[in-house]
Amino acid sequence: MPSGCFLPLPIPFRETPGADTPDRLSGDQPRTHEHRMNTDQTKQRTALITGITGQDGSYLAEFLLAKDYQVHGLIRRSSTFNTRRIDHIYEDIHERGRHLTLHYADITDANSLACLIRAIEPDEVYNLAAQSHVRVSFDMPIFTAETAAMGALKLLEAVREYEKNQGKRVRYYQASSSEMYGKVRETPQSEETPFHPRSPYGCAKVFAHWATVNYRESYDMHCSCGILFNHESPRRGETFVTRKITRAACRIKLGLQDKLYLGNLDAQRDWGFAGDYVEAMWLMLQQEQPDDYVIATGQSTSVRDFLQRVFSSLDLDPDQHVVIDPRYYRPAEVDLLLGDPSRAKEHLGWTPKVDLDGLVRMMVDSDMELARREETLRKAGHALRGGA
Ligand SMILES: NC(=O)c1ccc[n+]([C@@H]2O[C@H](COP(=O)([O-])OP(=O)(O)OC[C@H]3O[C@@H](n4cnc5c(N)ncnc54)[C@H](OP(=O)(O)O)[C@@H]3O)[C@@H](O)[C@H]2O)c1
Repeated sequence: MPSGCFLPLPIPFRETPGADTPDRLSGDQPRTHEHRMNTDQTKQRTALITGITGQDGSYLAEFLLAKDYQVHGLIRRSSTFNTRRIDHIYEDIHERGRHLTLHYADITDANSLACLIRAIEPDEVYNLAAQSHVRVSFDMPIFTAETAAMGALKLLEAVREYEKNQGKRVRYYQASSSEMYGKVRETPQSEETPFHPRSPYGCAKVFAHWATVNYRESYDMHCSCGILFNHESPRRGETFVTRKITRAACRIKLGLQDKLYLGNLDAQRDWGFAGDYVEAMWLMLQQEQPDDYVIATGQSTSVRDFLQRVFSSLDLDPDQHVVIDPRYYRPAEVDLLLGDPSRAKEHLGWTPKVDLDGLVRMMVDSDMELARREETLRKAGHALRGGA
């Protein structure tokens, strides 16, 4: 670890990992030494991931560790544990030759970002940190913009300053979003489709997207934007609609809850698996020339259809359990998102490996495992939060 203003972050060891420890959730194998050595690169590279504690950050960290990267993650200070998704790959700071190091900083704090970049001297920076929930962005528009828009700009500035002072090229990835298309101008949406965001989140992402393009064009920086359509997994946050559905369906099946409250069932989304999408992020930074890419499956499905698939897989009838709650409607809705991933296929050789049925199965299996543990605890007389 180069000297700098950051101490690597010790995370207290937890004897019993949380019930939803990610490696168990996803069925992923724990990382092994052989896994690490399975690399196609000769020189060890260093990557910084902001948002490493999120869904994508955790998959990306695993992916880069398997390619023998030195991975550094930015995590924000919290009064409770926020490292649940990466506990299984965490290495104690006292471990020699460790590959993963966490640092306290915040995407809204320009000084901490500049300091971190200088200390880490990264080859690649993946900017995934954001307040990423679209519905919540209507309740917290300013914080959403501070993280998703200004955060990206602050990080770009930190990288630019570092490149200028150190003369080292850094490859930068920006997590752009299909929500930028909003009220879509054409279907399917490609890299050329104009943006028309319909939420504070979408607006913030448009700003970050164009700021990234601008830094590429103005300063000849190697900056790429991945315009990612929705991607899910057993690690998806529990308030996002897909995970909300799989989690509730499994709990209903075991009698742990009875009702599931949802918003607009007619919204159509292009849903892929997060594990596939982080590979696309990495591929973008391996290209000689930076560019922007749509990452999607090219198939769109309504929330209603997703719900039906999940409930059918458990022999449940949604009409018996689902209640529409207008509180979950967005003030301005995005009706249909469908991505055209042709450029990514052609230039990156990227295609998604998991289809929608595979994704549903993976999420249901994982949430059923969690529900069974909850049932066991309940039967043993332990107090549980929520439920019927
Ligand atoms: N998943 C999708 O379908 C999708 C599609 C397109 C684009 N994106 C974008 O891709 C990125 C990753 O998505 P995701 O699904 O992994 O989101 P996520 O699970 O919500 O993770 C967001 C990450 O950002 C961190 N973060 C939030 N505020 C921060 C702050 N002030 N300082 C530092 N870190 C902060 C969170 O930390 P805590 O864990 O402490 O909260 C978390 O690690 C996001 O930028 C998202 O907007 C996602």
